[in-house]
Amino acid sequence: MKANAHPAILRAIAEAGIGFECVSPGELDAVEAIREAGASPRLFTPNFAPRTDYAYAHQHGVPTTLDALHPLQQWPELFANREIMLRVDLGRGLGHHDKVRTGGMTSKFGLPLDQLDAFVASAQKNRTRIVGLHAHLGSGILEVTHWAEVYGQLASLAEKIGSVAYLNLGGGLGVPSHPGETELDLAALDARLNEVRQAYPQYRLWLEPGRWLVADAGVLLSRTTQVKRKGALNYLGCDAGMHALIRPALYDAWHEIVNLSRFDAAATTLYQVVGPICESGDVLGADRRLPETVEGDVLLIAQAGAYGESMSSHYNLRELAPSVVIE
Ligand SMILES: Cc1ncc(COP(=O)(O)O)c(C=O)c1O
Repeated sequence: MKANAHPAILRAIAEAGIGFECVSPGELDAVEAIREAGASPRLFTPNFAPRTDYAYAHQHGVPTTLDALHPLQQWPELFANREIMLRVDLGRGLGHHDKVRTGGMTSKFGLPLDQLDAFVASAQKNRTRIVGLHAHLGSGILEVTHWAEVYGQLASLAEKIGSVAYLNLGGGLGVPSHPGETELDLAALDARLNEVRQAYPQYRLWLEPGRWLVADAGVLLSRTTQVKRKGALNYLGCDAGMHALIRPALYDAWHEIVNLSRFDAAATTLYQVVGPICESGDVLGADRRLPETVEGDVLLIAQAGAYGESMSSHYNLRELAPSVVIE
């Protein structure tokens, strides 16, 4: 849902029999809206959400994941006689940038393990049954061993809790972006998970790949607006900026950029590819070697299928980029 909530993408995912992890009432509604594609299971995993959001999920029959004592202790009636999942913080985060690491003390996600006993006691007192354990440590993880490690850690916590049936290992399956980076080896990931599952076969295993499913399914096309030389630097402006794709500005993410109008021309010039937004951080790609580019040339910005449109905004009151689905 976070990576790409376009209805056509959601339909394709639903038709593949995959469920949806949602973090807001809007995301729950977006899955409801494509229900004709198949009754896909939904899971509600918000963070610091208002109590009304949990009530909304319950009204719609969607199980919720808690990641703090607050909901259980302050709003016990909301969770009494219900089954819930618990997201824990395993004490470390992983991923391609500090801002996408979702574990450890400096991250706002997950129940710290030193509060686990208090959580279990509150749940028992409230007749709330913990049926799942969840951890999501970050995004863009390319180490194949990661998810099996999380499985092992969650399984040993689950044994202590007793009522757990599901282990949700989160997402974060990395997609290579820089030239030369190697793909995540899914067969190796599968083998590792199977090994650790043999040690704890009693649990159902869930994964939440977002970016991995859709990153390469979309590109951003943009037209060159102006070029400008400043000292040693060549600025190449285009009409898509951080309002259309915020990942480079937010996470220093690398998206490959290609001049489609001069696809076969030699890449002779080093450019700073920037957008039209009034921010110095509005850079889509720094130090990119491209053919000599002129106004009107079409640039392709790769891997915009994940966290592209879904994170876009009207900043500077600019229009959203229209999206076109090609089947
Ligand atoms: C709980 C949870 N699961 C899965 C994901 C998906 O991460 P990715 O798109 O990197 O696979 C996220 C992303 O923020 C998340 O917060």
